[in-house]
Amino acid sequence: MSQGTFGNPEIVEEELDILLIGGGMACCGAAYEVVRWAEALKAETGQELKIKLVDKAAMDRSGAVAQGLSAINTYIGPDQDPADYARMVSNDLMGITRDDLAYDLGRHVDESVHLFEEWGLPIWKTDGEGVRHDGAEAQREGLPTLKDGGRPVRSGKWQIMINGESYKWIVAEAAKKALGLDRVQERVFIVKLVNDKNDPSRIAGAVGFSTRENKIYVFKAKAILLAAGGCVNLFRPRSVGEGTGRAWYPVWNAGSTYAMAAEAGAELTMMENRFVPARFKDGYGPVGAWFLLFKAKATNAVGEDYMTKNKAMLDDYPPYGQAAVPASCLRNHLMLKEMKEGRGPIYMDTVTALAKLAETLSPKEVKHLEAEAWEDFLDMCVGQCGIWVGEDVDPREKNSELMPTEPYLLGSHSGCCGIWASGPTDLGAPTASDEEYPEVPSHLPRGWNWGYRSMTTVQGLFTAGDGVGASGHKFSSGSHTEGRMCAKSMVKYARDNKDFKPELDTPAAQLAEEIYAPVRTFLEHKDYTTAIDVNPNYITPKMLQFRLQKIMDEYVAGVATYYTTNEHMLGVAEYKLGLLKEDARKMRAKDLHELLRAWENYHRILTAEAHMKHIQFRQESRYPGFYYRADKNFVDEQNWKCFVNSIYDKKSKQWTVFKRKHVDLVDKSKLFKAAAH
Ligand code: FAD
Ligand code: ADX
Repeated sequence: MSQGTFGNPEIVEEELDILLIGGGMACCGAAYEVVRWAEALKAETGQELKIKLVDKAAMDRSGAVAQGLSAINTYIGPDQDPADYARMVSNDLMGITRDDLAYDLGRHVDESVHLFEEWGLPIWKTDGEGVRHDGAEAQREGLPTLKDGGRPVRSGKWQIMINGESYKWIVAEAAKKALGLDRVQERVFIVKLVNDKNDPSRIAGAVGFSTRENKIYVFKAKAILLAAGGCVNLFRPRSVGEGTGRAWYPVWNAGSTYAMAAEAGAELTMMENRFVPARFKDGYGPVGAWFLLFKAKATNAVGEDYMTKNKAMLDDYPPYGQAAVPASCLRNHLMLKEMKEGRGPIYMDTVTALAKLAETLSPKEVKHLEAEAWEDFLDMCVGQCGIWVGEDVDPREKNSELMPTEPYLLGSHSGCCGIWASGPTDLGAPTASDEEYPEVPSHLPRGWNWGYRSMTTVQGLFTAGDGVGASGHKFSSGSHTEGRMCAKSMVKYARDNKDFKPELDTPAAQLAEEIYAPVRTFLEHKDYTTAIDVNPNYITPKMLQFRLQKIMDEYVAGVATYYTTNEHMLGVAEYKLGLLKEDARKMRAKDLHELLRAWENYHRILTAEAHMKHIQFRQESRYPGFYYRADKNFVDEQNWKCFVNSIYDKKSKQWTVFKRKHVDLVDKSKLFKAAAH
């Protein structure tokens, strides 16, 4: 076989049964689980499945958990009910989530956490005397595991503390061990999915390229899990110039999940949703431990607690404003009032929080806690430590600034955009008639499952983690769990479709040409000018990304306008995104790294377009604090408590956006009485 050169890559074709795209939490869960079901299938029927996982990066440190984490944000434990969890998810996302998905996740997520502990992840424990031990100490002292009744240290109602610097290593190691290294291929960027030639509603394969060698990969597969994370850097980030590259969610997740699913014809949901995390300024350091574990308050510049001061503003948003814990967007809403009216900066009052803790804790415990405050950053956001050191911050003596960041699109953290996915069969109702499924109560909504858990509306295409829309608050553990659920359904799908032979709707050579188009553009025109970056015949991926970010920032409710847009601004964005899409075809790639950047941008643009179209369609401001439609600045429960879904037609390049009915499966009234968190 030829070696391949930059201008003439080798085309590697492979036939599989199951392809896993991504090596993050969801795919690691799938990789671990798929082997167990595949082996059972082989033992039972003799059918042997060819399985492969591809990741654009190196699994040990890829995706959102790359740097590590200091908490697992979703652990239900024996004292709580998955229905409470579904309620919390709904509340935080302003009432429009799929209870079937959240409940299902809630009843399975703890198994993933128990596995993490079994694989060596140190989890903080509270001993019989109520004394807290960090994860390493708990391991040393032989405190019982969670599975054996050990009690975690809760930072909040749903979150438990871990020593998580090596979290991703541990989870990736288990995934690789289960799958075997010969079935894992790193540094392969998937560019697009391919539908079946004989049935466009089916998936048949995926194509991508190596980011290290001149190789194009063409995979055929019966079932594909697309779990390539959320979308970062579609808005101009606050960190520019010397800070470029710093972001909150991982910069490598470039909307591949949403864009590739859309192009394959999958129905998307809630793409208007976004997450604007309030974070420690400039370093994007996490705030959860400070708010929940250290019980710190955030204040305006003159020390006023804006959550108390501006409480009345919550009354504008019944019923969500009345919840014991106001939704993340509403917390931002109250903060933004202070900033807009000139009472910034906003601070995390670390000084008071630590002083208060010192009143009740022993000096040793206080010392330990201080170390944990640093560790919280060291575990998952090392850059924030750099800022504390550089700016001489001792959190006992100096408060730190908080800032709402640029928007991010994701479905696993505190956001719910993503793909419309099939739910569990015993919650919510199948599409078929009542007669066919007498055990499912008929008041449950139709159309929420179609046989295989986590399958999208494209047959054989599954998703998990950031990919599954209308849920959210799954976090690392929940994403892993969804991946495991997918693995089970995919094996079932492969079994049920044993004789299906996928055929790509486009020949491999043509797909390869499409992928390498930015390289061709570069090679053809590079000698036209003497400066490689200045050329009328192409645009560099970096410049194109700046243009995208400027459009999104200024017209689609980025930081430039305090997250505000309107019908007219969206119209301008639509026009400019159209031009950008045209120019995107002129992106150059002078090396494999730029080829990666070019295709990431392409995925970002489609994701951005979906986001814009959905905001345009929804005639209200459902997420005040995340975005405002100034011309529809209210929540309209009567007309808009519904899902907004969309389908993209890759031939006409047009979006169809429409409403889908929302139904509450879990009673939400509890949320609005006693304290929930
Ligand atoms: P990821 O884990 O991000 O994985 C995506 C994978 O897809 C990566 O391996 C990536 O390399 C790959 N990929 C992307 N594009 C392509 C492509 N085109 N082709 C091939 N591969 C591709 N959760 C908690 O439980 N506790 C916390 O404290 C917590 N804190 C967080 C702090 C930060 C800063 C961040 C960013 C996240 C945090 N989370 C936390 C959330 C958690 O990390 C995510 O919910 C989870 O990682 C999502 O899993 P995923 O598999 O969907 O995506
Ligand atoms: S992190 O995962 O990136 O570290 P974050 O700091 O927002 O996330 O918070 C971790 C967890 O704490 C999440 O479950 C989030 O919903 C919750 N959380 C953060 N701040 C608050 C708050 N002020 N009130 C209630 N819950 C919060």
